[in-house]
Amino acid sequence: RCRSLPGKDGYDLVVVANRLPVDFSVSPAGDLTWQRSPGGLVTALEPVMQQEEGAWVGWSGAPDLTHEPFDADGMRLVPVTLSPDEIERYYEGFSNDTLWPLYHDVIAPPTYHRQWWDAYRRVNQRFADAAAEQAAQGATVWVHDYQLQLVPRMLRDLRPDLRIGFFDHIPFPPVELFGQLPWRRQIVDGLLGADVIGFQRNGDAANFVRAVRRITDYTTRGPVITMPDAEGRPGRHVRAQAFPISIDSRRFDELARSPEVQHRAKEIRSDLGDPETVFLGVDRLDYTKGIRHRIKSYGELLEDGRLDVTRATLVQVASPSRENVGAYQDLREHVEILVGRINGEFGELGHSAIHYLHHSYPSEEMAALYLAADVMLVTALRDGMNLVAKEYVAARSDERGVLVLSEFTGAADELSPGPLLVNPHDIDGMKDIIAAAAAMDPKEQRRRMRRLRRKIMSDDVAKWSESFLSVLYAVQPPAAAEPRS
Ligand code: G6P
Repeated sequence: RCRSLPGKDGYDLVVVANRLPVDFSVSPAGDLTWQRSPGGLVTALEPVMQQEEGAWVGWSGAPDLTHEPFDADGMRLVPVTLSPDEIERYYEGFSNDTLWPLYHDVIAPPTYHRQWWDAYRRVNQRFADAAAEQAAQGATVWVHDYQLQLVPRMLRDLRPDLRIGFFDHIPFPPVELFGQLPWRRQIVDGLLGADVIGFQRNGDAANFVRAVRRITDYTTRGPVITMPDAEGRPGRHVRAQAFPISIDSRRFDELARSPEVQHRAKEIRSDLGDPETVFLGVDRLDYTKGIRHRIKSYGELLEDGRLDVTRATLVQVASPSRENVGAYQDLREHVEILVGRINGEFGELGHSAIHYLHHSYPSEEMAALYLAADVMLVTALRDGMNLVAKEYVAARSDERGVLVLSEFTGAADELSPGPLLVNPHDIDGMKDIIAAAAAMDPKEQRRRMRRLRRKIMSDDVAKWSESFLSVLYAVQPPAAAEPRS
């Protein structure tokens, strides 16, 4: 058991997330090494973690990897071990083939397996035990995302002295869909172990409160749910509220201003044959992102002669994701067949209709792509927030470029007006918007981009974590509660 401060037992701030903010690898000599992985969450939390002596509990990303807690960049990292069987049932199964499609409007059909649920419970308990072990008396624990919805309740049972926050990074579905889940009651009770439950949009928070009303007999008033105490009298309060997440806007802005990135952006355009219009899509290869709808619309615009392959091109970055899950394998097939067909039909020597890249890239290359793109296409069928839309805006200090943004993203709630909003299910409507984006005059681009940048440069991810934590810190911890040992 490690101690962060002399005379102090445990950490004052503990973050619990499915993934640790590092990637492990085995060196040629056979030693286990790790590198930082530059996720959004760690950027947001690093400053507070360093200031508060924080610990981060998470999975290494590899099967059967067991490692002692260690220090990295002023944080304690605490790896949780998952067996291959648990990765299959808890991560690929229940998290990404049950909850993920259910919470994204059943775009793909969710699978309900009792063995997956058993693994989800067991792994959530392991994360809760690890967090309970790291947290100092009266500490604050912040649990993240749909993979760990049972942790707040489990943690409260182990450690009634803690302040517990939960943030749901993905949508929370309407109760009419959530109600399909055989374990809906356990999930709601799991989340209600927290003092504050954060969501991306007001609509997500409202969906959750409605689910509480329909599924339990707890009383709710606006965003506050009152839990009964042991005698059934009104007890502690839980607050369910929106805290829209953001990005490190300044970092992206600075990156995109750097001479290297500016140079690379020019190089990208010239490699593409200096077309008049570069369209860009950047997504994890996920069926929630509307990649097929976007590509279909683009293909039809070429077919209709409204776009010309010698004057426009689409760059689609699709980073590999959850490749062991069937729905993701099917999607890859469909996208690659569609891209092949469109390129075969409309491409010319030296002019590809679509440049499809099944890779992920470092943020420098992403910033250069954003700068090179005249039109950014974010056409998700459902998305908790969508940070790509925000990164594009942060990269465009030149106040050029057009953001086409799906109505079904959290970002659309926050950023309108400014983007061109689309309903990706309406292919004709989307084609008109894509064509209008390509034709938008620079003055109108500037007017919209200024508005977007004002919002994004001020509402960055540091502000997001501060606002969540300030609501959580305002919760009075139970005075006399002692940790159970
Ligand atoms: C979404 C989820 C995250 C998840 C990420 C990448 O953004 O909200 O919790 O980490 O996708 O997915 P992966 O399954 O690779 O962790």
